[in-house]
Amino acid sequence: MTQVLVLNGPNLGRLGVREPEVYGHASMADLEREAAAWGSELSLKVDVRQTDDESELVGWLHEAVDARSHVVLNPAAFTHYSYALRDAAAQVTSSGLLLVEVHLSNPAARESFRHYSVVAGVATGTIAGFGFDSYRLALAAIAHKLQA
Ligand code: DQA
Repeated sequence: MTQVLVLNGPNLGRLGVREPEVYGHASMADLEREAAAWGSELSLKVDVRQTDDESELVGWLHEAVDARSHVVLNPAAFTHYSYALRDAAAQVTSSGLLLVEVHLSNPAARESFRHYSVVAGVATGTIAGFGFDSYRLALAAIAHKLQA
């Protein structure tokens, strides 16, 4: 079965308690459950992970390349400044794998420091602003592109 790593960066382990007016009331455990269900509908084997550690996130992107896994990535705050993460994401897409950048909120509608993503230029595409649905749409986009 096609494997997809769903990788989440810093502070996303706090979903449900962190600024619920921005990020909603559901938790990372809820996302894990929902993503597994969407994955099975789409015939994708989904592995949801979260870390606050940049080097761990970079390591997971290396793992995606080596294991030939596609990636859904919410880089969280790393989106806006981590060139290390961008370089790791570039290895995913340049090896022919899909990488969809996702955001729960719409960073373009928020503070100016959130308007620029260093990852977007090496992603296959970006989906932002739809809460957990951003992840569902990203998985659907991967399944659709693989069928095409
Ligand atoms: C976020 C948006 C980022 O700007 C922020 O730093 C996050 C979450 C989102 O999912 O909306 O931590 O990636």
